[in-house]
Amino acid sequence: MEDLSRQRTLRKAPFLEWCDAEGLAVVTGYGVEDLRTLPLAHWERVGGPAAYCHLEGSQGFVGALVVEIPPGQSLRTIRHLYEEQVLILEGRGATQFWSDGSQQAVTLEWQAGSLFSPPLNARHQHFNGSSSEPVRLVAVNNAPLIFNIYKSADFIFSAPYDFSNRFSGERDYFSSEFKPGELEDTAVNFIPDVYAVPLNDHPERGVGFSRLGIHLSGNSMVGHIMAIQSGTYKKAHRHTAGAQVIVLSGKGYSLMWPPGGDFVRVNWKKGSLLVPPEGWYHHHFTASPEAARHLALRRGLRGVGIPWLASVSERDGGNMLEHEDEPPEIRAMYEAELAKEGVPLRMRPIQRPK
Ligand SMILES: [Fe+2]
Repeated sequence: MEDLSRQRTLRKAPFLEWCDAEGLAVVTGYGVEDLRTLPLAHWERVGGPAAYCHLEGSQGFVGALVVEIPPGQSLRTIRHLYEEQVLILEGRGATQFWSDGSQQAVTLEWQAGSLFSPPLNARHQHFNGSSSEPVRLVAVNNAPLIFNIYKSADFIFSAPYDFSNRFSGERDYFSSEFKPGELEDTAVNFIPDVYAVPLNDHPERGVGFSRLGIHLSGNSMVGHIMAIQSGTYKKAHRHTAGAQVIVLSGKGYSLMWPPGGDFVRVNWKKGSLLVPPEGWYHHHFTASPEAARHLALRRGLRGVGIPWLASVSERDGGNMLEHEDEPPEIRAMYEAELAKEGVPLRMRPIQRPK
């Protein structure tokens, strides 16, 4: 009986079975060192080199598709029933979008650092704008969740349904105007440069920590941009699965651990990806002279699963760890890392009760 239970738990998810059948390379583990140099292999469905990052912490909800558009070329026109948030890692180009009800395409021009989300199930096509340099993009999407439910590529890639409440061919759809969104999130459909977005200070989450919540194209998926100053680290917290943390700038490392378990360390720099697993504590440590800037693209799904309070102190019944309550070896490890890098610590000493 126990064997049967084990076999049932270890079965491969339908999404991963589909990746195998489709010939889409899958990357696993706790982190990817550099999405810009990750080896890719031709994927016929998009018509270019690609790989799918399905890291440990994604847990069947979301993942990160890395795709390259060769110089002077375009990818195939595609539509799909999963949501996607696209960050341009390198290069410049444009995407055309069509709603079923309008003949004219909406064209969006972008460059490295641009972020946008193809509206759900809208046909779209990506073009490289350079004849000499490739474009590399990462599309964080909830394809695992959608595949694990429907198990039909035919349905997911060819359903003739127009979500006109989200997009109906509006010429000004991809506006980069920030509008007030839900709670502390900001609604915007195009961010031309994620590096240039001003962030709001949140010292309660860490010394010098700042962030901005973002909500693109009326999605269920959400995201945020955050900055962690040099010589500082953010307070540890725990939350739901699937936050794909992409490092935009700076250098450092993250520690992730399940309550009572061992640390998993992921070193990062510009282009790295990591995903904290559900319910694991995690800290992000900046070890470079400049601040680190991260983009976290998350599954969203309001009301699904355990309601984690990731920005409320454990002392107040939440899931964020005060520095005084973190494992003592963490500060010593960080100080050693900073000394190695020649970067000064910019945090107060931790006062622990004797
Ligand atoms: Fe987090």
